[in-house]
Amino acid sequence: MGEDGQNVIIINGNPYAFEPGETILEVARRHDIDIPTLCHLKGAPPTGACRVCVVEVEGAASLMASCATPAGSGMAVHTETPKVVAARRQVLDLMLASGNHNCTIRQPDEADWTAQQLKVMQEDQAEELCPVWGDCRLQELAFRYQVTAKRYDPAKTLYPQELANPFIVRDFSRCIRCGRCIQACNEVQVNNAINFGFRGAALKIVAAGDRPLRNSDCVFCGECVQACPVGALVEKDTRYRVRPWETTRTRTTCSYCGVGCQLDLHVADGRVVRVTGAEDVAPNYGSLCVKGRFGYDFIHSPERLTTPLVRDGNHLREATWDEALDRVATGFKAIRERDGADAIGVLCSARITNEENYLLNKLARAALGTNNIDHCARL
Ligand code: FES
Repeated sequence: MGEDGQNVIIINGNPYAFEPGETILEVARRHDIDIPTLCHLKGAPPTGACRVCVVEVEGAASLMASCATPAGSGMAVHTETPKVVAARRQVLDLMLASGNHNCTIRQPDEADWTAQQLKVMQEDQAEELCPVWGDCRLQELAFRYQVTAKRYDPAKTLYPQELANPFIVRDFSRCIRCGRCIQACNEVQVNNAINFGFRGAALKIVAAGDRPLRNSDCVFCGECVQACPVGALVEKDTRYRVRPWETTRTRTTCSYCGVGCQLDLHVADGRVVRVTGAEDVAPNYGSLCVKGRFGYDFIHSPERLTTPLVRDGNHLREATWDEALDRVATGFKAIRERDGADAIGVLCSARITNEENYLLNKLARAALGTNNIDHCARL
């Protein structure tokens, strides 16, 4: 804690030291004090767009957005007062009414919670129910603050879904205009493919002068999908194929290149159904490229080779691993005896792990006796 209360903020009656430049939200999160957010994207400058993170600051004329307000010495902040809760409920109510958010918050009419759940599970068979039901930040906050969204009539859907893209479905009716996707694209990935377009109630996220993503500068890294807190941006292959609560997650390392990006495999019935970047660890902190995020269909491809093939004349035939390995070893030996070890070259793959590449290096130099080793990014 700073001397004489310097750089000390009071949150909910307790003093916390802060670094100059830190926002109220950052100090609170560092000390495990929960302040809900929607538009805030870690690593990008705050926009203060959604107002869900408002807090009461003693002496301030109005509620302050904690994500955009710097902490100040002696500042006394309250994060969950009745006034704060009322403001959040109002914001959530308006958001739920801003589009198509039929995530059962609208009709929590069943007195019995189990009956309500069953009703929702039945409705989930319909495409009308939001595809991210159960994995939506807006829905989560609506439950938390018990916002029923009955106060306002929902806004009309102005724009059709965009289904033309190879990996991403854009559903403008579910967009809450928080701007996280724009920041993810422009500030985090620096692709500058999307931005706000049109005005007022017609506001939408546009790409290349309101064209489909596939006709824009979008590289389909999917950073926007991961940043979207609602169901406005979803992976095409996952949509309506799997429900979030039916999957388990396994943390692993991407095998497409040597960067070592950390990702979470979402698995249902023994199959990988979705991939997301791991947000809490280096080196990628949630970001992935198009291959890492969407290129997982090879895992369960029926075309995948699972048995070694050896060439007999002009034909390839299935063989055992022992036979295949013997054939390779005999071939290498013959070449080395006839032409010397430098007649052999080894191409590694950027898609295998560093450890596997290291072992291949050992095989080339120590076993085969050649320094002719390189890698090819496409292998
Ligand atoms: Fe602070 Fe949206 S999270 S205004």
